[in-house]
Amino acid sequence: SIVSPLLRTGYHFQPPMNWINDPNAPMYYKGWYHLFYQYNPKGAVWGNIVWAHSVSRDLINWIALEPAIYPSIPSDQYGCWSGSATLLHDGTPAITYTGISRSDINYQVQNIAFPKNASDPLLREWVKPPELNPIAVPEAGINATQFRDPTTAWFAGRHWRMLIGGVRGTRGLAFVYRSRDFKRWTRAKHPLHSAMTGMWECPDFFPVSGAGAENGLDTSEHGAKYVLKNSLDLTRYDYYTVGSYNGSNDRYVPDDPAGDYRRLRYDYGNFYASKTFYDPAKRRRVLLGWANESDSVPDDKAKGWAGIQAIPRKIWLDPSGKQLLQWPVEEVEKLRGKPVSVGGKVVKPGEHFEVTGLATAYQADVEASFEVSSLDKAEPFDPAYDNDAQKLCGIKGADVRGGVGPFGLWVLASGDLQEKTAVFFRVFKDGYGKPKVLMCTDPTKSSLSPDLYKPTFAGFVDTDISSGKISLRSLIDRSVVESFGAGGKTCILSRVYPSMAIGTGAHLYVFNNGEADVKVSHLTAWDMKKPLMNGA
Ligand code: FRU
Repeated sequence: SIVSPLLRTGYHFQPPMNWINDPNAPMYYKGWYHLFYQYNPKGAVWGNIVWAHSVSRDLINWIALEPAIYPSIPSDQYGCWSGSATLLHDGTPAITYTGISRSDINYQVQNIAFPKNASDPLLREWVKPPELNPIAVPEAGINATQFRDPTTAWFAGRHWRMLIGGVRGTRGLAFVYRSRDFKRWTRAKHPLHSAMTGMWECPDFFPVSGAGAENGLDTSEHGAKYVLKNSLDLTRYDYYTVGSYNGSNDRYVPDDPAGDYRRLRYDYGNFYASKTFYDPAKRRRVLLGWANESDSVPDDKAKGWAGIQAIPRKIWLDPSGKQLLQWPVEEVEKLRGKPVSVGGKVVKPGEHFEVTGLATAYQADVEASFEVSSLDKAEPFDPAYDNDAQKLCGIKGADVRGGVGPFGLWVLASGDLQEKTAVFFRVFKDGYGKPKVLMCTDPTKSSLSPDLYKPTFAGFVDTDISSGKISLRSLIDRSVVESFGAGGKTCILSRVYPSMAIGTGAHLYVFNNGEADVKVSHLTAWDMKKPLMNGA
């Protein structure tokens, strides 16, 4: 891309410079949110990994502290990889993380660290007791280069348990480790769960309240249901299932027997190695996830930074009980400036209009409610699409005329529409006449710059569109578009690097490229202020 400060995100989490990846050990402690993350202090590509550390009062304004976990003991001397925080019974936190202990291969062991001074709400310094570390090593049979990313532990019966991601042959799995005192850990005979998917990175496991209940649960509380997430090294996406957990034998069973392969995702775009935590201040469960670049590596280096964190999302179980719902934490709304609204405007087939009056269309929050006049013109759903949303969106991108849709937003669009990122819905009808809704982000026209990775991203939306109504929210931030369909049923984050649609050259439009009229019942867009962002 071009090297411009106008492409650096304004309100998404970023350090002042260098490479970042996974969020680590998010927690709420003594009035502060803590976020650690995988960080290269020496450059804009992956390597030299330490845990950088930031704190926040609201998950939006961030203050950078010194790196908290960095190579300092034999069992982490070649890298401090991902891990999690657990609050112990007395309220003190413990961090468990993966250390690389050999230089010739990425030999992985698990370590533990405690705050040097638990009365410091900022938890600046951490100690790694030499008599305890490492707490887990890849004993006979465990693939030592694929054994990592301990989860937040939960307490059940008389033991703490935590998961560690791994693989046996090509079967991805989550090992269970147990401890009475949080110091000495032993591996349970059986993994919590496994599937023929390849290596599981960054597992996450947590209870959820009943269907539709928005309150979160502490990781040790009993859930009506449980969620198991894994990050698949093979596809580089985060998948989850909803299921039940038996605390007496530490086995998890997805509700949908084919769930491990049906592939529900937190996000159908660029979102990986995510992790949740329970926020007792607002009694919610919050999801953080890493969004990688889609710019070329030489351009990442030229810009001097790579990687962001998605806006923290509250997550809870959908009323159907079949999937999660996600919504940006309410604190992000504090950044909203003056609203611009549109109401009751009909967009005819092939038409579009600009949402004018927005001070910063390059840094904005947009909420829109659409109403389709009729579903009669919905295209038949071809079984040749293999039920593969991404493939379907690749075939039927934003510029391919449809029946009902494509309709939605053109964001980060240049005034002449040469550059635009389309975020849209398209409705099909299956063999029984039942509507099937596709949500898609199409960045193929997002930039005139060469050498960008511009995949179309898509997911189906399990929503009842029989009334014709569907909503869309997009968080637009210079080089990221983070969208939430139908109240957070389907989410897509995409990184884009426009060359003209930057700064005040960026515009916002509503478009309809289908045959049916689409009414914008309401649309409100806000310019977004810049929060404190780690001193940058
Ligand atoms: C996921 C991951 C983790 C590992 C870390 C290393 O992105 O590969 O499995 O702990 O990143 O930075």
